[in-house]
Amino acid sequence: MTVTSINKTSQEDSERPKHIVVVMDGNGRWAKKRLMPRTAGHHAGVKATRQIVEECIKEKIQALTLFAFSSENWKRPEQEVSSLMELFITTLQSEVKSLHKQNVRVRFIGECSAFSEKLQIKINEAKSLTENNTGLQLNIAVNYGGRWDIAEACKSIVSKIQLGELQIDDINAELINEYVCLKQLAEPDLFIRTGGEKRISNFLIWQLAYTELYFTDVLWPDFKSEEFLEALNWYAGRQRRFGQTGEQVDTTQTQQV
Ligand code: IPE
Ligand code: IPE
Ligand code: MG
Repeated sequence: MTVTSINKTSQEDSERPKHIVVVMDGNGRWAKKRLMPRTAGHHAGVKATRQIVEECIKEKIQALTLFAFSSENWKRPEQEVSSLMELFITTLQSEVKSLHKQNVRVRFIGECSAFSEKLQIKINEAKSLTENNTGLQLNIAVNYGGRWDIAEACKSIVSKIQLGELQIDDINAELINEYVCLKQLAEPDLFIRTGGEKRISNFLIWQLAYTELYFTDVLWPDFKSEEFLEALNWYAGRQRRFGQTGEQVDTTQTQQV
């Protein structure tokens, strides 16, 4: 089936994800298949990223969070890590102005202090240039790990307890929600992982508690508008029950119409 656009007449707002998160996987295998170095796969991955961002703007998605570099990716060969760092710098250099023109707000999640000064400067420039933009909220996860995120939240909560600003009994899921990354956004509705692996790889482990999980074998550099729209159409067919029965959800939806 060829999907060229979302069926807007039948697709209610409730069927459209507000917040999409993506594990952009498969760059290395894409390059290997073409007998190219892994770096070539990462460069091709940037092109796919550009298309998906454009598509989110077109489809009026509120937020997009992309996994660009995990806290575990430092374990890769030194040469691959340094070429990825270089690619982040050049990509920020080449893309941020156009994102700004399109009213995109760019933010970063992860431990950025581990990066070179040059990269940190680019990150801060992108953040401050776009901070008043009200269009797509684009979050880039770099040196991010879900376990790190939760540990940071614990540290902040404990320090507030030490200062007497919080009590132990105040700790519950809602409170923790206020201390993890992306707290200011709707919880992720749709998780997309390309590249065939069916795992989370320490991405937003707290935030994904009720997210719809979509896995595809398509390698990230081949994940184009059509594949993205296919994922959106798949999402539109999910019934999100959040613990209720299907009948309860149907009744609530009928009442709302
Ligand atoms: C994802 O593609 C990009 C990053 C992790 C930076 P991979 O580089 O993991 O590609 P595969 O999984 O080896 O094909
Ligand atoms: C996850 O992909 C991280 C990013 C896409 C940035 P990996 O390729 O690093 O995941 P694993 O190691 O195969 O689980
Ligand atoms: Mg991979």
